[in-house]
Amino acid sequence: MCPWQDVDHQSGLRHWQGRALVVGAGGIGKALLNELALRAPGLECFAGQRHLPASYPSAGGWQPLQLDLASDASLAALSAALAGGPPLRLVINTAGLLHGEGIQPEKRLAHLNRAALERSFAVNAFGPVLLAQALEQLLPRDQPCHFASLSARVGSIADNHLGGWYSYRAAKAAQNQLLRTLALEWRRRLPLCCVSLLHPGTTATPLSAPFQAGVPAEKLFSPERSARQLLTVLEGLGPELSGGFWAWDGTAIPW
Ligand SMILES: NC(=O)c1ccc[n+]([C@@H]2O[C@H](COP(=O)([O-])OP(=O)(O)OC[C@H]3O[C@@H](n4cnc5c(N)ncnc54)[C@H](OP(=O)(O)O)[C@@H]3O)[C@@H](O)[C@H]2O)c1
Repeated sequence: MCPWQDVDHQSGLRHWQGRALVVGAGGIGKALLNELALRAPGLECFAGQRHLPASYPSAGGWQPLQLDLASDASLAALSAALAGGPPLRLVINTAGLLHGEGIQPEKRLAHLNRAALERSFAVNAFGPVLLAQALEQLLPRDQPCHFASLSARVGSIADNHLGGWYSYRAAKAAQNQLLRTLALEWRRRLPLCCVSLLHPGTTATPLSAPFQAGVPAEKLFSPERSARQLLTVLEGLGPELSGGFWAWDGTAIPW
């Protein structure tokens, strides 16, 4: 049974007022922005993305802000751009890196290289916690809020029975530890904040595209379905469950 089923957190996003920030406007990020427009009409939504779209506002009404999670200057500029506004009630980081130019998930030890390890950690591990540092002053102390970041089940050390994908697995595991530590600190500093690590399930996006072949159709989610599921999980969480690692169906994932 999901741990929160009997708990009323009054966290129905439809009642929330303030701002929301989704970082990373990839497959799941864009779908989350569209779902938030439907589900959280009182939240003014921002999208933190590396490349600003040619035209906006979008159909969903969210506003783009330039953000490269791997750049301290960019994080500082994001913080300044959001300063002085309504409280930031919801932050969801969806930025992630599995493959790209010069980076591929390693099948064996011989495939590791320092530069790829560093790039993976910069985005998948250091980015989320430095994002939290940049936004800390903008989160409310006196209202419930969420700081969530997408992790991956393959980041679970206990669940690693297959091996491979060294840098992505390790960077997601590092993210989990960094945000678990953050959750403990924010219990005192931001007592109404819930910090969460979320596994979306295998979702049809550019990140998973090269690895979808063996995935049964019913286990490959559309980004829209993922977004709905992830927001439902968040709506069931409150500050007393801060620091958890949750799958798309609300079950806890072992560290
Ligand atoms: N899809 C899956 O099956 C799956 C499964 C488990 C976990 N996840 C996790 O879910 C999250 C979302 O992935 P997705 O499937 O939506 O992948 P996606 O479509 O590839 O989106 C990832 C986004 O991250 C952005 N990004 C990468 N580096 C960045 C940086 N330095 N600063 C800001 N943004 C950056 C990318 O921006 P650019 O467009 O500028 O490159 C891209 O828009 C990731 O954390 C991923 O690890 C996904």
